[in-house]
Amino acid sequence: MSLLQDDFGRKFQYLRMSVTDVCNFKCSYCLPDGYRPDGKPKFLNLNEIENLISAFAKVGTRKVRITGGEPTLRKDFTDIVRLVADHQDIRTVATTTNGYRLAQHAKEWYDAGLRRINVSVDSLDPRMFYQITGENKFDEVMRGIDAALEAGFERVKVNAVLLKDLNDKDLPAFLNWIKGTPIDLRFIELMETGLGHDYFKAHHLAGADIRAQLLQSGWSKDISSSEDGPAQNFSHPDYQGRIGLIMPYEQNFCASCNRLRVSAKGKLHLCLFTESGVDLRDLLQSPEQQGELIERLHQQLHNKKETHYLHQGVTGVTQHLASIGG
Ligand code: GTP
Ligand code: 5AD
Ligand code: SF4
Repeated sequence: MSLLQDDFGRKFQYLRMSVTDVCNFKCSYCLPDGYRPDGKPKFLNLNEIENLISAFAKVGTRKVRITGGEPTLRKDFTDIVRLVADHQDIRTVATTTNGYRLAQHAKEWYDAGLRRINVSVDSLDPRMFYQITGENKFDEVMRGIDAALEAGFERVKVNAVLLKDLNDKDLPAFLNWIKGTPIDLRFIELMETGLGHDYFKAHHLAGADIRAQLLQSGWSKDISSSEDGPAQNFSHPDYQGRIGLIMPYEQNFCASCNRLRVSAKGKLHLCLFTESGVDLRDLLQSPEQQGELIERLHQQLHNKKETHYLHQGVTGVTQHLASIGG
């Protein structure tokens, strides 16, 4: 069976599968005022997920990240983890979460096969955390990170979206934190979504400024591996943690794209931006449809563009990242 590859020679062994677009946080950059989720969501069920994962595994997927919204709000989240992890060709099961349920469930998810976890923490100041996320849950989330480190996860990453005039003064506190804690910190440059034009203008901060600050203070850029995808990683001999920068406005950002996305309702997204998704759900109903599903995946890959053109001023059709998991 031939592996998923696009017309630019990029290979896709990494699937980001959203399982819900519902979230219990209201991060100001993600869900702008006035956003209302779909009233009658029908997210992929376990059978559909099984058929999806089987097909992707056959064409080379080896890593699956379960995303949302907040994926752990699904009552069957542990079953989803187990289903994906039990698949013999899937080597790594990961999730990205706001951390709200982590303290209570870290061990249970680990036992079900989850091995990597990314937690969003936009500020280490509880008041700023509240201002950005709309939730007073800083302590719970930090307890969750401790629980994840204890449960034995291969990697615990922390995502922070850097925002001008909000958390941009937190950099020293973040650095101090990872000096003695083995956490991979991810600074994500704010991306403009269809709903957030004014917000973007007010709060966008260039990742290149952070990179310059890091390089000046003894951090050095690691050699990139194919696993890194579009992130640039940095390390420092005096720090246990590492730093990754996600800078989607840099010209070459998409050259190392290694991921495909499927939304919670079964649409294939070839990129976070530039297209609205291709329905796969009609072919997720029975294992007999695998051949047709795989054919559709290969066909669609020809439509993947070289870049999202964000660096040339394109905003894209993505309304907000909660619908396809960032
Ligand atoms: P791993 O390498 O598996 O840890 O993945 P990751 O760091 O990409 O996972 P995570 O879900 O934590 O991603 C962090 C955020 O970075 C995403 O939610 C997006 O906001 C952004 N991001 C990740 N991948 C891409 C990408 O391909 N394009 C763009 N524009 N942004 C991305
Ligand atoms: N720009 C950058 N990152 C975003 N995320 C959500 N919306 C945006 C945006 N507009 C990130 C969150 C979380 C991940 C799932 O997506 O911070 O870490
Ligand atoms: Fe929820 Fe994540 Fe969006 Fe925050 S960024 S509102 S935690 S989906």
